[in-house]
Amino acid sequence: MKTIEGSEVIEALNWRYATKQFDTSRKIPADQWARLEEALLLSPSSAGLQPWAFVVVENPAVREELKGASYGQAQITDASRMVVFAAKTDYTQADIDAYFERIVAVRNVPPEALAPFRGMVEGSVLSRQPADKAVWLARQPYIALGVLLTTAALMGIDACPMEGFSPPDYDRILGLTEKGLTAVAVATVGYRSSEDKYADLPKVRFPAEQVVLHV
Ligand SMILES: Cc1cc2nc3c(=O)[nH]c(=O)nc-3n(C[C@H](O)[C@H](O)[C@H](O)COP(=O)(O)O)c2cc1C
Repeated sequence: MKTIEGSEVIEALNWRYATKQFDTSRKIPADQWARLEEALLLSPSSAGLQPWAFVVVENPAVREELKGASYGQAQITDASRMVVFAAKTDYTQADIDAYFERIVAVRNVPPEALAPFRGMVEGSVLSRQPADKAVWLARQPYIALGVLLTTAALMGIDACPMEGFSPPDYDRILGLTEKGLTAVAVATVGYRSSEDKYADLPKVRFPAEQVVLHV
């Protein structure tokens, strides 16, 4: 693997910001967008279960409707692309079966070899109380959100992570409920407008000694 200098990564993380105003005239080239979708697929998740879906909303009329369910935030319609991070509303034996079939196919291993891991996953996931399970499920897509934001920054592509929307309205508009999914977060992705004054604001972060604890 070709490595990237740590200083280049830090430069990208300083360059990125939660974009408020996108340049509506600039679209992400298809090959670059394909890489960002690939980054979503490569995101890690608890036990590798991937209990999520990434809904790339392409229909402008639907995005207009979603803007109304997002306190009118302009990024929803102005960014080149928009992804809704959806969590599964439940995780069942059937989901576990599908995951283990996938491992068998991809790694070409006999199912019996996976029995201990399968037992561990079944024990830890299926025994969870519904409320606890819902919290655990909702956390997973945030990992992919972080991966997307960092990957986009390294590619010189702007993004805004967003939680300012009504999940029940999103679920209804996108038909997520009947798919066993619920919206937990959004990323709008594209290119900053030269008029976005937020781009030049200094980052507000607590000093390292307050948040990075060496014990
Ligand atoms: C989970 C999450 C939800 C957010 N929701 C919104 C949002 O709805 N609208 C918005 O403009 N910014 C939103 N933000 C952006 C944050 O305000 C921003 O990331 C934070 O202030 C740090 O600034 P920076 O990202 O520019 O470094 C959200 C960020 C995160 C991580």
